[in-house]
Amino acid sequence: MSSSTHSQSLIPQPGLLAEPGRSAHYLEMNLHPDADTAEICTALDRARQSRPEVYIAVAFGADAWQRLQPAWHPADLQSFGELRGNNGYTMPATQRDVFFWIHGEDQGEVMNAVLQVHEAMRDVAATLLDLNGFKNREARDLTGFVDGTANPKGDKRLDAAVIPEGETGAGGSYVFSQKWRHHLQAFNQLSVHEQEQVIGRTKQDNVELEGDAMPPTSHVSRTDVKIDGVGQKIYRRSTPYGGAEEHGLYFLAFACNLRRISVQLERMLGNSGDGYSDHLMKYSTALTGAYWFMPSQSDLNALLIRR
Ligand code: HEM
Repeated sequence: MSSSTHSQSLIPQPGLLAEPGRSAHYLEMNLHPDADTAEICTALDRARQSRPEVYIAVAFGADAWQRLQPAWHPADLQSFGELRGNNGYTMPATQRDVFFWIHGEDQGEVMNAVLQVHEAMRDVAATLLDLNGFKNREARDLTGFVDGTANPKGDKRLDAAVIPEGETGAGGSYVFSQKWRHHLQAFNQLSVHEQEQVIGRTKQDNVELEGDAMPPTSHVSRTDVKIDGVGQKIYRRSTPYGGAEEHGLYFLAFACNLRRISVQLERMLGNSGDGYSDHLMKYSTALTGAYWFMPSQSDLNALLIRR
């Protein structure tokens, strides 16, 4: 697919393509059952008011989208359901209604935006996940490995992450979020060579392992997928999070269809029929999981300004 399939009128919310800053914050909320649609839309509109140098992107779970915009539903949009792996691990489902992805360079400005969002939403929604993320040196995950290297660049980000023209929800994205808790004590007991076998890239220089050196159980082997010759690329914007006791990666990815993400998850879990699973799952545990629809800027405006 070429980038020409994305017309100028189908512009994603600006936060999607903005270069990652040093700070991020994630809010997952459930709408109060008795809040009315107009009240919710007013709150969302106040929540997203632009602030200098901070991006406030908003996305919706399937039920919430149905509630707020019953006129149309993106074809793939569904709630995330628990996935059980042949590797003995489970990816839990914690689907919620509204997701705010707030990010920028300055942690203080990001926090001011978080307070704005929370204040605007407090009468219509309960906040169930409230998590601060940060960019590490060289965009390294807390395992010490650089994260995001194989992400598509330039216009290829649009091809991977944005629903193409002609499909319902064009200009928007399907989103997957998953909070992982790392077990760094166990991971750090491995030799660097063993760690590299788990990830599929070298640690210091971040070079992809090649040929026989690349185990089929490495994270890269499980997530670098082609179907009928087409690379199932997604656009990842994860960050590390946490403190001394609990820490890990808030995995965040955008895709033009949900299959790209579910295929990777099933391959990680050992459910793809080739007998392999992702050895990274021995050292990190998925604590949450949700699918979202992030509408284009114009579809979000249409939703929030229709009152
Ligand atoms: C504990 C959680 C995770 C950690 C620490 C992690 C870390 C990494 C690292 C270090 C890389 C190699 C560098 C890069 O290309 O970014 C990578 C690659 C990748 N990861 Fe993850 N990841 C995690 C979860 C996931 C999940 C849940 C998915 C899929 C839904 C995923 C999809 C990918 C993809 C598509 C690549 C690039 C593969 C390629 O084409 O080379 N990751 N990840």
